[in-house]
Amino acid sequence: MTASATTTAFSRRGSILHVEEVPLPEVAERFGTPCYVYSRAALTSAYQAYQAALADRAGRPALICYAVKANSNLAILDVFARLGAGFDIVSGGELARVLAAGGDPGKVVFSGVGKSRAEMRQALAAGILCFNVESVPELETLNAVAIELGRQAPVSLRVNPDVDARTHPYISTGLKSAKFGVPFEAALPLYRRAAALPGLTVRGIDCHIGSQLLDPAPAAEAATKIVGLVDALAAEGIVLHHIDLGGGMGIRYRDETVPSVAEYLAPLLAVMRDRQEQLLLEPGRSLVGNAGLLLTRVALLKHGEPKNFAVVDAAMNDLARPALYDAWHEIVKVSDGGTPTPARVYEVVGPICESGDFLGHARELSLAPGDPLAIMSAGAYGMAMSSNYNTRPRAAEVMVDGDQAFLVRRRETVEELYALESPLP
Ligand code: LLP
Repeated sequence: MTASATTTAFSRRGSILHVEEVPLPEVAERFGTPCYVYSRAALTSAYQAYQAALADRAGRPALICYAVKANSNLAILDVFARLGAGFDIVSGGELARVLAAGGDPGKVVFSGVGKSRAEMRQALAAGILCFNVESVPELETLNAVAIELGRQAPVSLRVNPDVDARTHPYISTGLKSAKFGVPFEAALPLYRRAAALPGLTVRGIDCHIGSQLLDPAPAAEAATKIVGLVDALAAEGIVLHHIDLGGGMGIRYRDETVPSVAEYLAPLLAVMRDRQEQLLLEPGRSLVGNAGLLLTRVALLKHGEPKNFAVVDAAMNDLARPALYDAWHEIVKVSDGGTPTPARVYEVVGPICESGDFLGHARELSLAPGDPLAIMSAGAYGMAMSSNYNTRPRAAEVMVDGDQAFLVRRRETVEELYALESPLP
């Protein structure tokens, strides 16, 4: 997501924050809060930034496989499917969503360390592009499942390049100590094994070193190691069709210096220059993170010593990132006009019974009860990681397209939350 796309999709007109042409107070009024709001234009321009940066591989067009886990709403998947995207999935559930949204199974890669046999069967039947295999047992099981179905499973090995992505430890995946992928040193013999298994067709190679990466150097280092392996495989007659360099590009949440997509990809593309293999990428956050916000309302203000609390109607069940990673999201007033109340420093918190239920610490805001607030950069790993903790119906989701706002997920009802449960007989 480039800064310019963000500013055009989310802009203040007069004192009122708009998403594209739609004033946010109207969204809050019409759909209620808490509510996620996405901009189709911002999603589109984030995708197009990748397309433009990858244009010089036109001879062998790169495939952008959107990482569904970042935000799996069907409307988001639909926007990307229409733009020609592929998808990176990690479950049978995500595959079902991609198909329901009209995504092309022939452009789907399946990542994840614990694919079940049922998920393997489902993906084989759908005809996905590739399984990113992460372990020896998975390789053996996939071979057996494919043989049972009389098919050949297309595979890549996810190779762990042992590179330090220098990001939050919870979202760093490329070190030797991580649970992900097969060790770099084990890759060659494993490819030989895979090539010899009758139920498998070796198609590519995959790596993903972490998320919210702001410096492309570790990804380029990983890419260099990976292409070295690809060449070693070719020398043995194991020729790969594609190289999947994963996702991970970071976005601006606060004041981080964030490279543009073109700047981030340049060192990776340099490693790939003149190579025949198709390039695959699996971006998640950088396609959706800055294309969405969480709209909430101030429920009440609790002024006191040593802290002032602004209790809002969104909580850690809606946006877990602050509680989970101590992540910082900008919090702004939707309407900056009206009677000015004195600014104070607030802890912006939700109504959940946990001290970890905060959305922002020490924010200077001038607030009154009922004010709508926007929690920015919430398009990625927001709704997708939400829960019903405290029996809170999850937020509604709205997609703005020009001057129209569409409800793309209605708010849950409380009855729906316990509809699958039953008291003892
Ligand atoms: N490919 C694989 C195999 C992944 O595991 C991930 C993310 C991606 C692609 C997409 O990475 P992205 O481009 O979004 O960085 N919940 C955390 C982020 C977890 C990322 C998990 N894997 C957060 O809220 O920061």
